[in-house]
Amino acid sequence: MTTSFSSIINIETGRPQLKDNIIKTIPKNILNILKEIGKASEQFGCQAYAAGGFVRDLFLNTPNFDIDIVIEKNGMEFAKKIAETKGWKLKTHKKFGTATLITSDNLKIDIASARSEYYKAPAALPQVKAGLLSEDVMRRDFTINTILINISPKNFGEITDIYSGIKDIKNKTVKVLHDISFIDDPTRILRAIKFATRFNFTIDPHTQKLIKEAVDKNIFASLSGKRFFTELEYILKEKDPVLPLIKLFEYKIMQNIHADIASNAGALSFLNRIKEVISLYKKNDYSEWALYFIGLINNCGKEASEDICRYFQIPHNQKILFCDLRIEAKNLLKNIEKNKTAYRKISVFKTELILYMMASLKSPVKREEIFKIYKKAKNTKILTNGNDIIKLGIKPGPIFSEIINRLFEAKIKGDIKTKKKEIDYIKKYLSEETPIIKNS
Ligand code: CTP
Repeated sequence: MTTSFSSIINIETGRPQLKDNIIKTIPKNILNILKEIGKASEQFGCQAYAAGGFVRDLFLNTPNFDIDIVIEKNGMEFAKKIAETKGWKLKTHKKFGTATLITSDNLKIDIASARSEYYKAPAALPQVKAGLLSEDVMRRDFTINTILINISPKNFGEITDIYSGIKDIKNKTVKVLHDISFIDDPTRILRAIKFATRFNFTIDPHTQKLIKEAVDKNIFASLSGKRFFTELEYILKEKDPVLPLIKLFEYKIMQNIHADIASNAGALSFLNRIKEVISLYKKNDYSEWALYFIGLINNCGKEASEDICRYFQIPHNQKILFCDLRIEAKNLLKNIEKNKTAYRKISVFKTELILYMMASLKSPVKREEIFKIYKKAKNTKILTNGNDIIKLGIKPGPIFSEIINRLFEAKIKGDIKTKKKEIDYIKKYLSEETPIIKNS
């Protein structure tokens, strides 16, 4: 009997079969769903297979609750039928001929047909066994994502591994199926980097060469900025995005997006400081990926940042954060360092910007200072209003905000707790200023 780390040869069929100890790692609710879908596929007159990342992660013993199913007949029709009988939610993606089922436990199951009418096989594809399954796997990105597991009742657990994905998982290798994979779909370059860094795999030398060639040919020019950003966002949301982001620099992909994006070394130290700051900040009131993105474009001025956001088709509110507010935070930091009034603004800053300011500082002591100022500013309330200032004989005008800014700064630094003390401070401040201010 032939065995590998994950499969065993089934004596009756002579085909590889998932080992029981791997099947046992599948959570019970997911296993039941796979079996139910397998049973439904039999009634539908075909076989069904678990595929993609779900199967890859099963071999890696990494939990993955996004189930990918491939069936040998029309996937959309099949998904509709299951949704009807089980009362699950259904989303169809007509453009791709696929559907997503959402179970009562909120599990997501993507259903696709093994045969796809929209797929045109490029001429240079390697020879594979004819048949529906090979048609499905040959359009996938990497060998590690091509393993199929039969979930139909009769053949449950049977493995189809046309491209030796199991061997590549064992050898920790990310490898494309054919030479024009990145021409077909340049987002796969980002995916290769994502998988390699996530699993601590190596990109196989030939695949690396294909990436370099594709980048040299400026392959990303054929990709919309929006699609690039979707894939980049996945990387930014990785558990540790620094490593894949740095790889994007090493392959000269980020520099291709905009000339003003920092050099490799500059980006690495800034992103590492972001990682450090994130690890120290315990609250969950901000978006980590947005902070890493801010780190990526740290070197860019307002105009370059706006160009990048426009190219990536980033929504308006995020663009405001990445361009306007980020630059404001940068300037504010300079003002604070020069001891100029800037504290009032910091009190309304989003956490992303505070952490960005902290990451901009190399000294941990200075970072701590900024954070203290922020916390204090956030809790500082001004009790004096415009009418109180008018009563002091000052005419409304820009001087009002100057007075409030000074008062805010004094409250942060000192011991002004009551409204009376605030008024006393303003009086003292005004008496020290020139008479022009008083009469303006
Ligand atoms: N796929 C592909 N080419 C792409 C995107 C996806 O061939 N550009 C295929 C791969 O076989 C992949 C499957 O579609 O395994 C599902 O895609 P997706 O859900 O995006 O990826 P996962 O592999 O599940 O990755 P992740 O763990 O990051 O979700």
